Amino acid sequence: MMPTPAPLKNAEPPGGLSRRAMVQVSSAIAAAPLVGCAAPSGGLLGMAEVSSEPNPVMMRMNLQVNGQSYPLTIDGRTSLLDALRENMNLKGSKKGCDHGQCGACTVLVDGKRINSCLTLAVMHEGQAITTIEGLSSGEALHPMQIAFIKHDGFQCGYCTPGQICSSVGMLAEAKAGMPSHVTQDLQGASGALSDEEIRERMSGNICRCSAYPNIVAAIRDVAGAPA
Ligand code: FES
Ligand code: FES
Repeated sequence: MMPTPAPLKNAEPPGGLSRRAMVQVSSAIAAAPLVGCAAPSGGLLGMAEVSSEPNPVMMRMNLQVNGQSYPLTIDGRTSLLDALRENMNLKGSKKGCDHGQCGACTVLVDGKRINSCLTLAVMHEGQAITTIEGLSSGEALHPMQIAFIKHDGFQCGYCTPGQICSSVGMLAEAKAGMPSHVTQDLQGASGALSDEEIRERMSGNICRCSAYPNIVAAIRDVAGAPA
């Protein structure tokens, strides 16, 4: 007896429906009772239109990053971090957790530090975004970058762009008189920062290599505070 031929890979099933369409139809049939939708009059192909993944809504926007204008057409759900890394090729800002817990993605928006993984790119049109790539002026490093090198404020370096952007934003906050949870004298909050103040204010930036003493030393140096 002749052996039954094995089905061809990706062969179309009878009736003209592709394998992909068959899978979609099957998924739609399975999902229909769960979502409580009545069977559409269009038959099986109509049910295949039921989808749990809406199509992306592409949006045009113009972002100002490091003094440069970036015209973009991207999914409106794109985080600022992903837009920076994937659409503008600015890979300095790092994705550690993508959940606002590590600070590796910290950038400055109008001078204020934010976690770029927690915000949508489209929300920042018209604002001045600064990433680690934009802190230096040409070949001249930012004083905080110099201090991190001088004090060896990193090991693997993955958290470092976020640490540096965050510390620049943090010093501006302190200078503006914003208190932290450990500030004793609320009237004199703009005074010199103690190590305790620096650690508290930088607590949103995690360093897995535990380079904390050197990070604090670098920030203390720029802040002009005594050890
Ligand atoms: Fe944004 Fe961790 S990647 S906080
Ligand atoms: Fe490695 Fe901070 S230097 S995570």
